[in-house]
Amino acid sequence: MNITILRFDTIDSTNTEAANQARKGADEGLCVVAREQTAGRGRQGRSWISEKDSGLYFSIVLRPKLETRYISLITLAAGIAVYDTLKEFGIDPDIKWVNDVLVREKKISGILAETVETTKGIAVIVGIGINLTSRSFPDELAQIATSIESETTMMRSLGPRAIDPMNVETRLTSFLSFWYEILCGSDGPNEIVRNWQQRSSYFTDKSVRVTLPDRTIEGTTDGLEQNGALRIRLADGSVTIVQAGDVERLRGQ
Ligand code: BTN
Repeated sequence: MNITILRFDTIDSTNTEAANQARKGADEGLCVVAREQTAGRGRQGRSWISEKDSGLYFSIVLRPKLETRYISLITLAAGIAVYDTLKEFGIDPDIKWVNDVLVREKKISGILAETVETTKGIAVIVGIGINLTSRSFPDELAQIATSIESETTMMRSLGPRAIDPMNVETRLTSFLSFWYEILCGSDGPNEIVRNWQQRSSYFTDKSVRVTLPDRTIEGTTDGLEQNGALRIRLADGSVTIVQAGDVERLRGQ
């Protein structure tokens, strides 16, 4: 994939800008990166706090030639790419379905994939936020989130060393291209599910509560469907297939 980067000091949301670029005909591989977002968006209408230089705020335009039912796997492929990027810094992450990347149960990265209709067909915008430093976390976030700087400082048990965002960005774009090409290749969907499985403790046997649009269920994870949907085994032995929902680990797991 040919990566082109469009940089901003400040922007409302890199996803919004990438969507606008896609509507204007941008090619696959166009990336929007900002030092700060004034209206960063998270999943399910939440906001994504995006202080200047505290995180990598990144969105890429994709124009996948995939069967529609496999489009949802782009999110999983992006989760794998973020996981591999963090590994390069010596961090040992986990992926919580569908695409929260955690370290020691704290969120270090979030992914927001959105589709847009364009004259060149459907484009998928994959937005990725990776916390670089925890210094400007508000109190409520400090309990539940972490950053590359915090994790690497802890490992080296030395003073904090600033993380170079360009270094994170370069590795991320290269892993994203790699896993996206795997997804679009032969046996791509199975490859992505297999690789996601190797990186996520949530794949099987995890007791979870899942908040669905209309109800909440509790059960044990039982693998993924070929399109990336999460299988939940309920107490009565039946299996519910979750296409979209918020997963929460139950205590003691
Ligand atoms: C989530 O976990 O809720 C997803 C968060 C996604 C945040 C990123 S930051 C770059 C891109 N631009 C946005 O407005 N959101 C995504």
